[in-house]
Amino acid sequence: MRVLITGGGGQLADSLEKTCPAEREILILSRQQLDVSDAGAVTEAFERQQTEVVINCAAYTAVDDAESERDRAFAVNARGAENVARAARQLGARMIHISTDFVFGGDKSRPYSVDDDTQPVNTYGASKLAGEVQAREACPAGLTVLRTSWLYGVHGRNFVKTMLRLMRERDRLQVVADQAGSPTWAGFLADVIWRFAAQPSPGTYHWADAGVASWYDFALAVQEEAMRQGLLTKAVPVEPVMTEDYPTRARRPAYSVLDSRLAQARLGIRPAHWRSNLRRMLAEMQDE
Ligand SMILES: NC(=O)c1ccc[n+]([C@@H]2O[C@H](COP(=O)([O-])OP(=O)(O)OC[C@H]3O[C@@H](n4cnc5c(N)ncnc54)[C@H](OP(=O)(O)O)[C@@H]3O)[C@@H](O)[C@H]2O)c1
Repeated sequence: MRVLITGGGGQLADSLEKTCPAEREILILSRQQLDVSDAGAVTEAFERQQTEVVINCAAYTAVDDAESERDRAFAVNARGAENVARAARQLGARMIHISTDFVFGGDKSRPYSVDDDTQPVNTYGASKLAGEVQAREACPAGLTVLRTSWLYGVHGRNFVKTMLRLMRERDRLQVVADQAGSPTWAGFLADVIWRFAAQPSPGTYHWADAGVASWYDFALAVQEEAMRQGLLTKAVPVEPVMTEDYPTRARRPAYSVLDSRLAQARLGIRPAHWRSNLRRMLAEMQDE
């Protein structure tokens, strides 16, 4: 089966490459090789490759910058998703489109199911939601939308790597304690995506690691596990702060835990707890 992956060089595309099952033939295209916001280029790339499944990992993910670069965020996350979906349909290929917990408003206190109302609170979330809608319109039958949350992996920029760097550089840290979500390891999410690639599953699904954490909980766990594995040599005090004490250009949902049960039932697998996946990621980091 030929699988084309957009957004090469990003953390999820990298994990997909590392976990690719032996029977798959993959082609991973970076932004430089395929700009998804260029409709003609997308059509041409897909025709050339005779793809059966497309995994759209290309995204504008700079959540704060999106507030001042709205057009760029929508060009990639909305129009880009539509371009990929249209080209996939023209070829008769299936598409797995990756989306985000940030499509939700964050005012709930129980995990968001796939049918819950969306209400993004920032431009990034709005552009990703528009991408879901436009991709569905362009490729109604062959589209799987897979929303995930708080993604991190060995490759690329993410919270875990930022915390490790700051814990080496600083004497103390302050981390937001009143936003809750589910940290999700790209290594396991990649395995989930390969399972979706193996069976047509049109519709919307959620996948996140099990358990709930605040950014503060997550930071403390990073420090504890990294100390245990010898990636950090000293512990620095980590203090909880409130969102209002740590202003950012983009608002974040206060609660964006995803209910992954539909995907679990569909694939017959269960997520590991986020903390055990954090251990696996740090071990992989040490091996590298
Ligand atoms: N990171 C998270 O916490 C998180 C949480 C929930 C959902 N997600 C979703 O998960 C997916 C994968 O995210 P990720 O964490 O792997 O993001 P990432 O590391 O930022 O990777 C995104 C990739 O897309 C590329 N890209 C940007 N503009 C493009 C364009 N016009 N055409 C083609 N490629 C383009 C980027 O290239 P450049 O680096 O060269 O710009 C980068 O390689 C995205 O759909 C994201 O919205 C992420």
